[in-house]
Amino acid sequence: MRLFRSQSSAYRFFGLTFSTLFAALAISFTAAAQTLPTHISFDPETHIFRIDSADSSYIFGVNESEQLQALYWGKRLADSDRFSPAKSMPEVASFDAPSTTTQQEYIGWGGVLYVEPSLKITFPDGNRDLRLKYLSNHIDGNHLSIQMKDISREIYVTLNYDADGETGILRRSAEIENRTGGPVSIEEVSAATWNLPRGTDYRLRYLTGRWAGENTVQEQPLNPGKTVLESRRGTTGAQNAPWFAIDHRNENDSEHGDVWFGALGWSGSWQITIEQDVLQQVRVNGGPNSFDFAYHLAKGAKFQTPYFYGGYSDQGVGGASRLLHRYELDSILPQAPKPKVRPVLYNSWEATGFDVTETGQMALAEKAASIGVERFVIDDGWFGQRKTDHAGLGDWYVNPQKFPNGLKPLIDKVHSLGMDFGIWVEPEMVNPDSDLYRKHPDWVLNFDGRPRTERRNQLVLNLARPDVRAYVYGFLDKLLNENQIAFLKWDYNRNWSEPGWPAVPVDEQKNVYVDFIRNYYSILAELREKHPGVEIESCSGGGARVDLGVMHLTDEVWPSDNTDAFDRLLIQNGFTYAYTPGVMMAWVTDSPTWVNNRTLSLQYRFLSSMQGSLGIGANLNKWTPEDFDTAKKMVAQYKGIRETVQHGSLYRIITPEHDSQQSVTESVARDGHEAVVFAFLHSSRENYPYPRIHLHGLNPTARYRITSLDGKLADDTPETASGAWLENRGVDVDLKGDFQAMSFHLERLP
Ligand code: GLA
Repeated sequence: MRLFRSQSSAYRFFGLTFSTLFAALAISFTAAAQTLPTHISFDPETHIFRIDSADSSYIFGVNESEQLQALYWGKRLADSDRFSPAKSMPEVASFDAPSTTTQQEYIGWGGVLYVEPSLKITFPDGNRDLRLKYLSNHIDGNHLSIQMKDISREIYVTLNYDADGETGILRRSAEIENRTGGPVSIEEVSAATWNLPRGTDYRLRYLTGRWAGENTVQEQPLNPGKTVLESRRGTTGAQNAPWFAIDHRNENDSEHGDVWFGALGWSGSWQITIEQDVLQQVRVNGGPNSFDFAYHLAKGAKFQTPYFYGGYSDQGVGGASRLLHRYELDSILPQAPKPKVRPVLYNSWEATGFDVTETGQMALAEKAASIGVERFVIDDGWFGQRKTDHAGLGDWYVNPQKFPNGLKPLIDKVHSLGMDFGIWVEPEMVNPDSDLYRKHPDWVLNFDGRPRTERRNQLVLNLARPDVRAYVYGFLDKLLNENQIAFLKWDYNRNWSEPGWPAVPVDEQKNVYVDFIRNYYSILAELREKHPGVEIESCSGGGARVDLGVMHLTDEVWPSDNTDAFDRLLIQNGFTYAYTPGVMMAWVTDSPTWVNNRTLSLQYRFLSSMQGSLGIGANLNKWTPEDFDTAKKMVAQYKGIRETVQHGSLYRIITPEHDSQQSVTESVARDGHEAVVFAFLHSSRENYPYPRIHLHGLNPTARYRITSLDGKLADDTPETASGAWLENRGVDVDLKGDFQAMSFHLERLP
């Protein structure tokens, strides 16, 4: 069964075409875990569209006003269930016309509309009224497209729905086509509008953060009014993650109950609005941020929105995360549906800062190899006149003082030690103290004659400009051509200011919000196509560029510069609500940490990092022989379980939220052959024992061997137990003291 429809032979991605890269998306599933097949249908009598996929049904119809009206989204219904034709809400008062109270799939701003529109356009004659009506549909396997058109003007909108048969996740987007005789200005555009079933007891979960404090889980009741999650920063940002989940307020079990969730795949300024209207109906819109937004759409041109993914789970917010994780691994990542496990990497940033030299890096590489590291990454400082963060960004030549013979001797050394080689770049930035800026001061985002605000002594190159795009692609391609590089850590260490683009006509200048990101994506896509062996990490001073758009084109992400292993429990916990641990890099760094001056044992630091994709970022020159022994042992252990941690099913058994003294995660292998549990204790109090750990996701009738990976199980733990015992009776662990951690393993017996 085909998952996504390919359009012609090439795959279209936000207006870009890269057939090879995305061929992997038009994949066939063996559908081992699939219960019910995906059906998309249109009933010509009732004019009802129905998407049944995995465990969910999504139903809408064309109503008497030729609007697309939402009818149902939730648990899968029986094939025999029938819906009456869609009918607008009755008029409740002259103030609230049916057009504003009827839950619609995609609404133009025009007529009477007081809720967030899906699309708002200004025409050159000043007309700002847009009324979209249903025109036609096309169903092709798991893909549905619907065409709409304004009542009189030649504005066409195509809504696209792709249903994933494994998870029921719908990938939605819209394409706006301007067939009028002149340009139009798009002032607000959603990829999709999601409508929830009528209800008044909803709770919203979302993620907030900042540098070194990403992914805090927030919860609030949904009341009439609007919550806006957004970035106005030019890129994704850490302030909010482009993700939401809505469940029922009275449901406090994270493994049970209805959850509707979604994630937006856009790495530019974005917004998700969650709105409860005057009739207490909930709608969610998502797309590029409408603040300061205008997209000049020339006559004859099309605007392709990003994707907005949405799904439903009846297994609580835990189930919702697992569906998203699976979808990311199977359908989003560049190597989907078979992403490679992340190699154990070493990165010297926290050890050496900008002070990178050939001999220093070689010495670290030897030590890293001795503990089983598979990838050695040289961070910031290797290029231009980069001695501090004051200079050099933009000048991507190898610094001759630090590397007199180029990178080759170091790369050869790394290879001879059995590791591959990775390197840090920050392609979209420039220090004013650089040859590039001296030569091209007009290449940065700026407003003519206005101050150019520096952050971390750097300015943002305007990647929307074709010359800047060519420069950035050119130096990266050259770097990869000239050196045997397996991995790029692509960084981005500030947000936008003065987002001007003076080189183009005034009415096109705001296109920068979109064109910048499209060029960013196209560079990533083109590099991947030309250098298929190269893997890429998305980093932005920590986790400020993590979203499903960049995840299409990168293999892993850096969740936070905060590598304090205790803080990381909270950051990583929030991360996993939206994103798979399979891309979540987690380094073991030095103790006490620079963040909190907290001292943590090496074992604790390893176990915290082993919940994601393990890396080492400590100064190995300071390690004792015992540290090397511990590390060697734990790296080997990690390699044994990493497939399960990275690609398995995650259960957040005890979250570290709300200042919990404990936190426990469990990862179950996809084929169920093993599970691994990590348990952490902040600090013991009053001689209370550690809470019993009730496991999930096991086969109740199978037997499992229970062994400690690290730390102690309670003395009365049996050697083997059934899945039922493990889930219901549960396992006791022997954790006492401050900042303690342990891990145990369950192996299913034949
Ligand atoms: C950012 C990254 C760090 C490191 C530095 C280098 O802060 O998040 O990991 O690469 O830049 O300047």
